[in-house]
Amino acid sequence: MLPSWYSDYKSFIDKSIESYLKTYFNNKVCIWSEKFKDIILYATKWWKRIRSIFALEIYLIFSNKPLSTLDRDDDIVKFIISLECMHAYSLIHDDLPCMDDDEYRRWELTTWKKFGEYQAVLAWDLLNTLSFEILSQISDPKIAISLVQLLSSHTGFYWMVWWQVDDMYFECNKEALTHDNLVGLHNKKTGALIKSSIIWALIVANSNSDIEKYSIFWEKIWLAFQIKDDILDIEGSLKDTGKSVWWEKKGFVHFMWLEKTKKELEALIEYCLNSAKELNSEKLEFIVRYIGERKR
Ligand code: IPE
Ligand code: IPE
Ligand code: MG
Ligand code: MG
Repeated sequence: MLPSWYSDYKSFIDKSIESYLKTYFNNKVCIWSEKFKDIILYATKWWKRIRSIFALEIYLIFSNKPLSTLDRDDDIVKFIISLECMHAYSLIHDDLPCMDDDEYRRWELTTWKKFGEYQAVLAWDLLNTLSFEILSQISDPKIAISLVQLLSSHTGFYWMVWWQVDDMYFECNKEALTHDNLVGLHNKKTGALIKSSIIWALIVANSNSDIEKYSIFWEKIWLAFQIKDDILDIEGSLKDTGKSVWWEKKGFVHFMWLEKTKKELEALIEYCLNSAKELNSEKLEFIVRYIGERKR
């Protein structure tokens, strides 16, 4: 059961995204715009919002503000909408028949399965460029530029796209994959967006010095998230995770077996809990525990 503050954060994020996108589409006129708006809203709605909730809490800690003081026009809100657009685009493209060929996500049909492939590809195109358009609307141009640089480097060829390129390669050349390069791949895939989301929140909060100080925490928390995802690929079900579980896929579990993987996860979570305690935030502690214990 999620605590009420988590639901408040999530509802604030859900409403901010929906309202931004609806306004965005109100200014666009083309024959398909209504239908296309529905596709974009479908692809960006719920579920966990874990990256945004983590980033939001980090921002609130370092800027010393409560959630109630935030306005939809604040830079942190623009940043979160941009982040969720980028996350949604990465999932649309990851599910396509030419990639993982998945039919379920978030307990519903994947975007391509529900609306068709060309619609899904166009939605992915829009969400990718839209995330940069939103960042360009951040009030301080210096912050906007550093966020654009971070977003493009962390999701482009150095990180997320690179991972997908390697992932598709290893899919066809399974014998070439070792545990070491798998850790590197996870680093680029999931790590890129989670780690950079925390760094961006610190930039928006003007707390650049804390980026370095907690860098190991930022590194370990995403690794824990990905390891848990791999465990769920074995122990989870479509009913719990809302997506097809795919236990044959190469993961930490595949290489290190379930028990060893669980021990590694425990150690990562323990380290991250200590960092969260140092930051004196029960909410952050909850998020760290949730990442380790989640069923979905
Ligand atoms: C799924 O991310 C993709 C991975 C990187 C493992 P999430 O588990 O955060 O997906 P949603 O947004 O909650 O559905
Ligand atoms: C998620 O990777 C995609 C990216 C972060 C690019 P996976 O293929 O491992 O995740 P799920 O299981 O489909 O959510
Ligand atoms: Mg994939
Ligand atoms: Mg996938």
